[in-house]
Amino acid sequence: MMHPDDMTKDIETVLVPEEKLREQIHEMGARMTKEYAGKLPLFVGILKGCVPFFTAMTQEIQIPSQWDFISISSYDGTASTGRMTFRKDIDHDIRGRHVIILEDIIDSGATLRYLKELLLKRKPASLKICTLLDKPAGRTVELEADYSCFTIPNAFVVGFGLDYRDCYRNLPFVGVLKPSVYADEAS
Ligand code: IMP
Ligand code: MG
Repeated sequence: MMHPDDMTKDIETVLVPEEKLREQIHEMGARMTKEYAGKLPLFVGILKGCVPFFTAMTQEIQIPSQWDFISISSYDGTASTGRMTFRKDIDHDIRGRHVIILEDIIDSGATLRYLKELLLKRKPASLKICTLLDKPAGRTVELEADYSCFTIPNAFVVGFGLDYRDCYRNLPFVGVLKPSVYADEAS
């Protein structure tokens, strides 16, 4: 059960505190600024989990760049369903563009594998994946991030965009959710 009065009561441990998130995103931004200089990159965020990371990350980019968003998901509660729900496509024509997908977390890899294949058919000049978190232990399909801020153990985490039933996205840190929150999950 969720504590309706205080979200932090539902957090077992803080895995990545706010300062560490900011530090690492700052470094990643400096790296991408160098690598994409003169290329007018297009950042594609995967809604909704990318939002805090998308904002923080693109604010660290010191060159002109553009934004777009896509909505797709394979998750239901705390388990990956493997089924893709495609809700919103990007607005830009990406042929010949340098595209960077921004994602909150890579778990099974199924979402990004699917999205990558879909976008590659549109012939971008380059397509890279940048993730805030990587859970390599959850991988069921072959997929690697080109840019990854943090590698984390195989726990269910929330905060900084990551949700459980669309809640906890607004926590400013990444934390492990107490199993008691979803133990009584009615399937
Ligand atoms: P994948 O397709 O299994 O790689 O799943 C990626 C998506 O699952 C992410 O975009 C998240 O929305 C969600 N996800 C995976 N692990 C977690 C987690 O620990 N907490 C919250 N959402 C997660
Ligand atoms: Mg999600």
